[in-house]
Amino acid sequence: MSRPILLEICSILMLSIINGAKPKLCIRGCDLALASYTFSRYSNLSYVADLMHTTPQSILLYNPQIPNVNYVVTGERANIPFKCDCIGDGDFLGHVFEYNVRSGDTYEAVAAGAFANLTTPEWLRRFNVPDHGGKLNVVVNCSCGDTRVSREYGLFVTYPLARGEGAEAVARGLGLGRSW
Ligand SMILES: *[C@@H]1O[C@H](CO)[C@@H](O)[C@H](O)[C@H]1NC(C)=O
Ligand SMILES: *[C@@H]1O[C@H](CO)[C@@H](O)[C@H](O)[C@H]1NC(C)=O
Ligand SMILES: *[C@@H]1O[C@H](CO)[C@@H](O)[C@H](O)[C@H]1NC(C)=O
Repeated sequence: MSRPILLEICSILMLSIINGAKPKLCIRGCDLALASYTFSRYSNLSYVADLMHTTPQSILLYNPQIPNVNYVVTGERANIPFKCDCIGDGDFLGHVFEYNVRSGDTYEAVAAGAFANLTTPEWLRRFNVPDHGGKLNVVVNCSCGDTRVSREYGLFVTYPLARGEGAEAVARGLGLGRSW
């Protein structure tokens, strides 16, 4: 971490101590984070691209294992690029996706189905009022890497664990098997 940023963090911490405010957990976000999205029978690349405000072509850039935009296998994962913001009053790093509610949707279905467990029903409740006018705020957590440290470790992936999945499976899923 370079000196000016360290100083900035120190002075913000000092200020919040003086003001008696809660310390900020983030100061700024970053342009690129990745979300690990598991395809279901109902999702495909164009669906996920729409859902997460990107394009199928941009998704392909972060998924060398996917040969073309029509190739999707149920149960496989893809890295979806998204912008990572510092949310609220420096509360946490995440991104708010606007989701158009469809008939029959529940918080549970939106979290586990459409968003493939990248968010939770609790978080949908927390960031939405009951009468949401057909749109939901869907908050997905993220982290910002430091590309000055290394290209690989400069990118962080939001990776919802599937039932029974441990660190080994995660490493395999990310293609990091050999370096771990
Ligand atoms: C992709 O998924 C959406 C949502 O399930 C569906 O409406 C659409 O027909 C699918 N497109 C293709 C090319 O399979
Ligand atoms: C989300 O988690 C639930 C419960 O573990 C699981 O049944 C569902 O298949 C998961 N969704 C996806 C898209 O993997
Ligand atoms: C996001 O991260 C916070 C802690 O950093 C955690 O409490 C929360 O459950 C996470 N939300 C989701 C939807 O994963």
